[in-house]
Amino acid sequence: MTPSDLNSSLHNSLFMKTVRRESTETTPVWIMRQAGRYLPEYMAVRNKVTFIELCKTPELACEVTVTAQEILGVDAAILFADLLPMLEPMGMDLEYVKGEGPVIHNPLRQAADIDRLKALESVEAVGYVFDAVKMIRNELPADIPLLGFAGAPFTLASYCIESGGSKNYVTTKKIMYNDEGAWTALMNSLVDSVIMYLKAQIATGCQAVQLFDSWAGCLSAADYRRYVLPHTKRVIDAVSQDAPVINFLTGNPALLPAQKEAGGQVMGVDWRIGLNDAWDIFGPEVGVQGNLDPVSLYADLPVLKQRTIDVLNSVSGRNGHIFNLGHGVMPDMNPDHVKALVEYVHELGAR
Ligand code: CP3
Repeated sequence: MTPSDLNSSLHNSLFMKTVRRESTETTPVWIMRQAGRYLPEYMAVRNKVTFIELCKTPELACEVTVTAQEILGVDAAILFADLLPMLEPMGMDLEYVKGEGPVIHNPLRQAADIDRLKALESVEAVGYVFDAVKMIRNELPADIPLLGFAGAPFTLASYCIESGGSKNYVTTKKIMYNDEGAWTALMNSLVDSVIMYLKAQIATGCQAVQLFDSWAGCLSAADYRRYVLPHTKRVIDAVSQDAPVINFLTGNPALLPAQKEAGGQVMGVDWRIGLNDAWDIFGPEVGVQGNLDPVSLYADLPVLKQRTIDVLNSVSGRNGHIFNLGHGVMPDMNPDHVKALVEYVHELGAR
């Protein structure tokens, strides 16, 4: 296949047509964390290496990405990587601790520490990501787009400051409220780095990218607008010159109007609000991705099917709906239920 045939096939794929809000034969679906521990095929690879080794070995990252897409029959693949490894060359000492998730051993605890985070000088330091992108693009079917991704500036900043997950984000908010100058400097370094990182993913083979603001839901709408929106907007404005951006934010439907202002061609929404209501807030000029409660996958299949129908019905026939969960799939979920979900969406989303 020539490069121009490939581009045309990707352009006309179900997923990319939906991103452009064209009418399609059915609803496309992919699943956040689709290549993860719930899949025996992932565990077979993962049991041989640590998580970070898997991220840094392009052949293995490629294998788990392509295998998950094939097994599930989803309409897009997502690069196997994580939000945080890009912070290593910026000065963060990162470890994935068994049973705990990511830990940063030298967090930025106060405003005076912010200088320790250096903006990425070049993307070569995370070159393994782009090697994986090239390999994956080569191996995926020609009608399956590859999604790149990065953490949004707030979610990355909160990891740098809290050192891992957090309940109340006390240290993050303390720096944000007490020392807006330091906060802005930190966000600026992250924004410049994320722009460079996402543009390189697109240049090496990703058709669209998702920005994960997984922790922004801890903020009020006023704080999101003041401390986060201008920075996220700068990322999205720069990156969407190169490819469509899915702006995913979770945890707080009060942020939806501001999420829309931050930009993106598609808004990622969790299950806390119905898609009809979310889309009314966003307006017709964007696509919407979501939003089945992931816990629905634990339900019996007839219940899962009905809940899938409910999500499909909740867009009232609008063009531009990409089906997904409202959050990532969990490690103990039954892969057969995930596969069944994908089939239900294709069958019941048909027009
Ligand atoms: O399949 C995919 O979706 C692509 C790969 C992907 C991973 N993480 C793989 C992963 C993506 C897109 C992410 C994003 C990510 N990483 C987010 C945002 C997603 C969201 O749910 O909002 C966040 C917050 C992270 C940070 C992170 N990485 C955490 C909190 C953890 C530990 C939690 C857990 O489930 O253990 C990780 C580890 C991680 N990232 C795993 C995977 C498959 C599990 C690691 C393992 O194999 O042991």
